[in-house]
Amino acid sequence: MGIASDILADWDAARAALEWLHELGGIDPIGDAPVNRYDLAERETPAPGRTPGRAPEARRAPAAPAPAPQVDPVAEAERAARTAPGLEALAEAMAAYPHCELKKGARNTVFCDGRPGARVMIVGEAPGRDEDLEGRPFVGRAGQLLDRMFAAIGLGRASPDAERGLYITNVMPWRPPSNRDPAPEEIAMMVPFLRRHVELADPEILVLMGNTPAQAVLRQRGITRLRGHWTESWGKPVLPMLHPAYLLRNPGAKRETWADLLALQARLRG
Ligand code: URA
Repeated sequence: MGIASDILADWDAARAALEWLHELGGIDPIGDAPVNRYDLAERETPAPGRTPGRAPEARRAPAAPAPAPQVDPVAEAERAARTAPGLEALAEAMAAYPHCELKKGARNTVFCDGRPGARVMIVGEAPGRDEDLEGRPFVGRAGQLLDRMFAAIGLGRASPDAERGLYITNVMPWRPPSNRDPAPEEIAMMVPFLRRHVELADPEILVLMGNTPAQAVLRQRGITRLRGHWTESWGKPVLPMLHPAYLLRNPGAKRETWADLLALQARLRG
């Protein structure tokens, strides 16, 4: 019992001395966990003009990183698109938009081709390999078919006059990896840009090529059911059509596309 109380008295004295020395900043108590001195070295470097010694704040645990501010990509796109006063500014705003992951894997931002001010504006899905390399929409095999389709009713992207011209863009300005379909959230964040694009180019008629633009403009999918049915959106008459890439895979569907082209021609002739 006597030995035990001596030990306790020594222990209390030792602890009091240790706490006192610690108060003075003289020594570190020995803790249960190892301390990485290299890690501490930087934080403990005294500020110029300050006496070396442990600053009380250097003893605290490192502050947790501030949470990243929440960004709404669609709201950001709306703000960027709304403030673009013209097509050039819109192309720049789109190229600077940082919230779409597809941009990281793309060589180019594909904005448009053809004649701004044309009566017909074509909206495709997304650039493929050729478009990504060249920076223009519809320049690969599907694009060549698209050119032949519209030439058959007297329209072309190279036409210098608005009457016979075409203006061409895509919902997505960046190529999706392995040409996969753009995800709904990727489409949603580009819709404000597309809507502003239509407003600035101001065509008489919008032609939607495939499911992605049908989803972006009409919020509907099922292009084989939608095609050929005139509707209205964003203040414009809209004609959904089968995508030329689909026609390359299903040549039998060209008959429906021919009917849609003739309907477009009739509408233009008014
Ligand atoms: N398919 C599209 O929808 N757009 C292009 O630019 C090329 C292929």
